[in-house]
Amino acid sequence: MKTFLKIFAGVLIALAVVLFFVAQRGQSAMFEQYTASSTLSSVPTDSASLAYGAHLANIFGCRDCHGDNLAGKVFLDIPPFRAVPANLTSGKGGVADQYKTVQDWDVAIRHGVTKSGRGMIVMPSPAYHKMNDEDAAALIAWIQSVPPVDNVLPPTELKFLGKVLAGFGAIDFGKSVNPEPTNTIKPDTSDVVAYGGYFVNSVCSYCHGEDLRGGPAEGQPIDPPDLRPVKNWSFEQFKKTLREGITPSGKKLDTFAMPIAATKHYTDFELRAIYAYLQTLK
Ligand code: HEC
Ligand code: HEC
Repeated sequence: MKTFLKIFAGVLIALAVVLFFVAQRGQSAMFEQYTASSTLSSVPTDSASLAYGAHLANIFGCRDCHGDNLAGKVFLDIPPFRAVPANLTSGKGGVADQYKTVQDWDVAIRHGVTKSGRGMIVMPSPAYHKMNDEDAAALIAWIQSVPPVDNVLPPTELKFLGKVLAGFGAIDFGKSVNPEPTNTIKPDTSDVVAYGGYFVNSVCSYCHGEDLRGGPAEGQPIDPPDLRPVKNWSFEQFKKTLREGITPSGKKLDTFAMPIAATKHYTDFELRAIYAYLQTLK
């Protein structure tokens, strides 16, 4: 019995040592350095573009996670990590002082690399990589125009379990990073299907999958469903689903998983375009 206990204790100690080193590797993986460069040269200053930028911050979900006034908040505090969408203003605790140029913002938003050179978790930069230059410029112009809000937040952090998972590669800060050139083409609003496709293939496909057939998606609490059946819905039913989170069968969607706080802001015109695009799915 004594020998058994000794062996057992030995195994536990060995395991603890291994976990300690794996956790250390995970912690340094969080701070691995990446580089990407932005092709944006300037941002618009006219009020119509700024208003459009604010609208984009709604439909792309920025305000859902970073707060309506972009003051940031603790978004997830779970056993592996704490994910904190930063205060994007120039108030106390805000990051705007580090993001001096339009390129700094663009590299974080569309390429997924922070000003300090690391990748991110939870922040859906892979979806925003498909945002076109004109939209990105309007969005950044609006972010830079937002009034400062003092809000000092704790940092995004891996807890011990998260460090171990990151050490094994199961949590990957590099996933947000895409140094490839971004989308320069703004679809013409007269081509309704292509216009809808622009939103669908950036935002919606991030969760519902490239082919929009749903299935398990990383970091999603529930599997996003197949969007092809939407073809059988009327436009009004589709609109009610995206605005209120209630499907034609009367099901109340989980609004944390399906970001109604963002999709409710799509204009009727944008929703019509998205609906038109979904009609083309095979
Ligand atoms: C699902 C929630 C979510 C959405 C949607 C989201 N963010 Fe984030 N964002 C985060 C989190 C979490 C972080 C911190 C990630 C980290 O530090 O690893 C972050 C970080 C950032 C950073 C880097 C801040 C820093 O600390 O350097 C910028 C800039 C940013 N987001 C801008 C945006 C913009 C602009 C949008 C909309 C186009 C957006 N975010 C949408 C969650 C989100
Ligand atoms: C952050 C992930 C995420 C994004 C982004 C997202 N969805 Fe969803 N969506 C979900 C999840 C998860 C569900 C299932 C929610 C539930 O069952 O409560 C869902 C449900 C739906 C449903 C209901 C389908 C049904 O048969 O019940 C529709 C329609 C839908 N999404 C359309 C869209 C469209 C269109 C977009 C882009 C404008 C989009 N979603 C963006 C995660 C997402």
